[in-house]
Amino acid sequence: MDLSTRYMGLKLKNPMVASASPLTGTLDGIRKLEDAGAAAIVLPSLFQEEIEAEEARYDRLTEAHDESWPEAATSFPVMTEVKLGPHHYLELVRQARAATAIPIIASLNGITNKGWIAYAKSVEQAGAQGLELNVYFIPADTTLSGAAVEQRYLDILGAVRLAVSIPVAVKLSPYFSSIGHMALALQEAGADGLVLFNRFYQPDLDIVALKVLIDLKLSEANEIRLPLLWLAVLSGRVRASLAATTGVSTSDEVVKYLLAGADVVMTTSSLLRHGAGHMAVLLAGLESWLAAREFSSLAAVRGIMSQRKLADPQAFERANYIKILQTYGHS
Ligand SMILES: Cc1cc2nc3c(=O)[nH]c(=O)nc-3n(C[C@H](O)[C@H](O)[C@H](O)COP(=O)(O)O)c2cc1C
Repeated sequence: MDLSTRYMGLKLKNPMVASASPLTGTLDGIRKLEDAGAAAIVLPSLFQEEIEAEEARYDRLTEAHDESWPEAATSFPVMTEVKLGPHHYLELVRQARAATAIPIIASLNGITNKGWIAYAKSVEQAGAQGLELNVYFIPADTTLSGAAVEQRYLDILGAVRLAVSIPVAVKLSPYFSSIGHMALALQEAGADGLVLFNRFYQPDLDIVALKVLIDLKLSEANEIRLPLLWLAVLSGRVRASLAATTGVSTSDEVVKYLLAGADVVMTTSSLLRHGAGHMAVLLAGLESWLAAREFSSLAAVRGIMSQRKLADPQAFERANYIKILQTYGHS
């Protein structure tokens, strides 16, 4: 069965990608995921705050040496080469590249387009074959316009795009007024891939202790519906590759995402629940679904239920919403 696909120009043996999580943060986890069939790995994010903390530490060190021993400052590596940055991250990229035969995609997570972006170059130099950009930004400032939030994404992407030549994907928020317009704007700004969607960890309240809870709930299969809608709408309308993320539990969700038009399908929660070996279960389920319907390749089904390909494109729009409300309880 030919399960091959392309993602941001990278040739993948199948569409299954392990998204950023603690599992992809160790060499052991990465090896297990590759053994279980993962076609690519997204490393956990390196955060802007981590990079800035390291740079501040560097500044303090050089200042201290400046005072006591002027020549010492020049013996420190130049910051643009970032020999000092969060070493462990670059080391992980290097080791993962050396230990696997599948593409390693690094993840940078930040909210401004200044300073820390230079680190993208170091990640590329360490061997990352792609970069995922996660702009985890909560616009809590009520004076901030939607246009300003969009511009922030575009500015960060633009700065990263200038810094590296490897493909760059943006892990998008689902909270734009016009997802399609934003997707095209990101594409114009140089995004090679769009990851739908970033999963925001909404807090809960503890009504006994009167505290904000920040517990992390793994996703459920019914959460695929929002990304599924937008993948189906965007498929065939953007040049950028489309990655589906959120809610994959069984191979059924994988099949649905591919039918909607995803080029790759990412999973984290299912792997954290069942272990890296679950990747093989998902792949086997996908293969048997294709075989049972006598499809000989993944390419034959990808996007066949996207909005553009459906006989009834209204299925993804307002008409179906009205129908759903009016027929509730009648079936
Ligand atoms: C414990 C944990 C750690 C995560 N770390 C990151 C991260 O560092 N960067 C990132 O972009 N996403 C991170 N994610 C989000 C996942 O990559 C993924 O997008 C999200 O869990 C939705 O996919 P899922 O439904 O398959 O779990 C993390 C998720 C979990 C559960």
